[in-house]
Amino acid sequence: MSSQNESLESIKKDVIHCVLCGLSIARKNAVPGSGGTSRKIILIGEAPGKNEDETGSPFVGSAGKILDQALIDAGIERKEIYITNVVKCRPPNNRVPTDGEIEICTREYLKKEIDIISPKIICILGATALKSILGLKYMTSYRGRIVNRPPLKYFITYHPAATIYNNKLKQIFFEDIQKLAKIVNAQDHRIDKFFPT
Ligand code: URA
Repeated sequence: MSSQNESLESIKKDVIHCVLCGLSIARKNAVPGSGGTSRKIILIGEAPGKNEDETGSPFVGSAGKILDQALIDAGIERKEIYITNVVKCRPPNNRVPTDGEIEICTREYLKKEIDIISPKIICILGATALKSILGLKYMTSYRGRIVNRPPLKYFITYHPAATIYNNKLKQIFFEDIQKLAKIVNAQDHRIDKFFPT
């Protein structure tokens, strides 16, 4: 096992036993990031939902099924990418995580996951991740685009849950994941030419 995997493994163990915020009280399972790092892509959602809380794995419910199909269509294998969330425990009734929960969980886990993987690109899924990670408010201004925050690059798209009952958004989401695949397949020095910001 490489030292990179050992470090992600130790974060996973810490997440599973975490009691740093109140979300640990009601959860069934904490949901650490999962997947591989070979493509150097991280996808970041908001927080686990009911299915994720029950299984301990990210994006396994209806939003996960949409994400899986978009990845398959774009030729990206789920096992090649790392999927995680801004917060690792399900907020009661799927409410939006509080600023305090976000602050603790990103400081303790998400930032470390990003540091270890040193991704070529981070795909932000939805408005909560956009605000929590980049401090940006308006999804419609940024979706489909790259935001450069050296040394990291972020690609912004909808949260797949937002597309469940909206075929237009779903189509845009699928197109965005295709763009993400193109960006990742490009040489590093060409990434900026794809979607200049
Ligand atoms: N929604 C998220 O943001 N993350 C998950 O893991 C599942 C649903």
